[in-house]
Amino acid sequence: MQFIDLITQKNRIRTSLLQRIEAIVDHGQYIMGPEVLEIEKQLAAYVGTKHCVSCSSGTDALLMPLMAKGIGPGDAVLTTPFTFVATAEVISLAGATPVFVEVLPGTFNIDPELIGHAVDEARNKGLDPKAIIPVDLFGLPADYDRLETVAASHGLWILEDAAQGFGGTFHGKRAGSFGLVGATSFFPAKPLGCYGDGGAVFTDDDELDRLLRSVRVHGQGDGDDKYQNVRVGINGRLDSMQAAVLIEKLAIFDDELIERQRVADSYSSRLKGRVQVPEIPEGYTSSWAQYSVLASSTAEREKIMGALQKAGIPSVIYYRIPLHLQKAYEGLGYKKGDFPISEDFSSRIFSLPMHPYLKDEEIDRICDVIVNS
Ligand SMILES: Cc1ncc(COP(=O)(O)O)c(C=O)c1O
Repeated sequence: MQFIDLITQKNRIRTSLLQRIEAIVDHGQYIMGPEVLEIEKQLAAYVGTKHCVSCSSGTDALLMPLMAKGIGPGDAVLTTPFTFVATAEVISLAGATPVFVEVLPGTFNIDPELIGHAVDEARNKGLDPKAIIPVDLFGLPADYDRLETVAASHGLWILEDAAQGFGGTFHGKRAGSFGLVGATSFFPAKPLGCYGDGGAVFTDDDELDRLLRSVRVHGQGDGDDKYQNVRVGINGRLDSMQAAVLIEKLAIFDDELIERQRVADSYSSRLKGRVQVPEIPEGYTSSWAQYSVLASSTAEREKIMGALQKAGIPSVIYYRIPLHLQKAYEGLGYKKGDFPISEDFSSRIFSLPMHPYLKDEEIDRICDVIVNS
């Protein structure tokens, strides 16, 4: 059994995808070719933003807005310690300091009520708080109603980390469209993935769109001379083959989201009581990047994961170490006990196979193993 089945999906799009790839081989615009412009238009329409700037990874999609907004040394950017490392890494890469904010016990997402406290903490450290990066963890958008209000009250702007959330919604608005700017990843295992690295940035802000396009290509100027560099940028371009994969996969994405919801519903109805199943609050939908559950203790997690492994069923821990306890962030001065909810999640969480092509019999088999373990 696969944790994420990309083979069945590939078989579904294979013929049309190969036609697109052949066209790229022949037209020769391998980077930023017509497929890239096409997918940017399609993605902006899908997410519901005025602009989409494609780029080379989800990490670059997070880094580019920080660079475009001039985030740097002395600035603080608030984010959660219960996320993939890239969310905090880009803050450090920009030269700023991550300030962690605890997550909510129900949803794994950043707690808006604690933003004010983190702003004070940043100021006490002599930092200038500038922005928040909420993460749509496991596919569920963060609480943007409250986050947008609290961010505005502290003069902060929001960069949505929708690397996992792409496809999720909050009051009908799609992930990627919240805050000033949103970022997503097209890493192959993501809900919408390509066949390599890729990412995209979304915004309604014309000036930010212009800056992002410059940062994406080594800070190039607006004029005809592409070797005129007006700011420091990166090589963040997306290549045409990846864009072609995304075009084919976006066409079946809504159908896949329905199937992901089917899998999640089956899991939740069977596993409730044996483990703590994910909570999707009223008004939200998840893209189910991961289906993550909480065991009652670390020992229980080991027992269940051991039983799954014995049955040939893969399961994975996201995330075993919260970021404030990672070696790379030792220098920030956090210690064990600073974020008890995140630490508790790290000790009990695990994720089950999740993809649109998981059959009902497979779900039954996974649930049987867990319930009987
Ligand atoms: C929450 C989160 N942020 C950022 C990233 C970085 O994306 P990428 O791997 O495409 O650089 C990922 C994915 O790996 C992620 O899960």
